[in-house]
Amino acid sequence: KSGPYKVPVVIHVVHNGEAVGTGTNISEAQILSQIGVLNKDFNRLNADAANTPAVFAAVAGSMNIEFVLAKQNPEGLETSGIVRVKGNKSGWTINDNYELKSQSYWPAEKYLNIWVCNLTDYLGYTQFPVSNLPGLENGSTNALTDGIVIWYRAFGSADDGAFTLDPDYDKGRTLTHEMGHFFGLRHIWGDQSGCEQANGSGGDHVADTPDQSESTTGCPNHPRVDTCSPAKMFQNFLDYTDDVCMNLFTQGQVDRMGIVIESSPRRVSL
Ligand code: ARG
Ligand code: ZN
Ligand code: CA
Repeated sequence: KSGPYKVPVVIHVVHNGEAVGTGTNISEAQILSQIGVLNKDFNRLNADAANTPAVFAAVAGSMNIEFVLAKQNPEGLETSGIVRVKGNKSGWTINDNYELKSQSYWPAEKYLNIWVCNLTDYLGYTQFPVSNLPGLENGSTNALTDGIVIWYRAFGSADDGAFTLDPDYDKGRTLTHEMGHFFGLRHIWGDQSGCEQANGSGGDHVADTPDQSESTTGCPNHPRVDTCSPAKMFQNFLDYTDDVCMNLFTQGQVDRMGIVIESSPRRVSL
């Protein structure tokens, strides 16, 4: 099975008490922009798909998935799918994981929780799914922390409005990347140094992403030679390049995400 999938999303804006649309209390337009980016990137409807080099376009994949802001809250009442709450801290780190998420949370069995806040140490982070696929861990999951956290200045796309975004991360690809993790994707270079096949790590456990010895940053030119392959797929959403350079998932990544969606004991009914 490979979709179609429909994912109900709740956005928790954990702000610092500003008026709606200013500072950490981001506007509805910025949120809608980000949902639009997700739907385009996962369905390969992103305009910059045209920038994928031909050699990689041949293995590009699309998912047939739709992310929608929740229309009913946990009590069954009508909602915008956006919850705004003043946090009890002005900045958050990955170590504040549980405290951040306890500011506002909807049952992870029914909603994909996304928290947007002044995250000070990462652009974003995600709880991996429980799975017996290689590269993931089996066992139990903590539903109360299930979801994705994104820094408010790397959320949404500058193409859609004058939002205050970090110039390197201004096209909404942080959430695209984290959503890949949420559905079980590992970083394209396998999070270890050396060639993935040779170092025995199994890399990202995806066959059609080229073996890559390390992450890529900034925005290089194609082909970018790597000790493990003649051309790195730095355009992949699961590398570390700038937003403007990222434009694809591969079919192998889409297949892996589909397996997780169909088999992981998670929560969001799709
Ligand atoms: N550093 C984060 C992570 O590994 C996100 C990287 C996002 N990259 C980007 N171009 N937006 O989870
Ligand atoms: Zn990552
Ligand atoms: Ca690979």
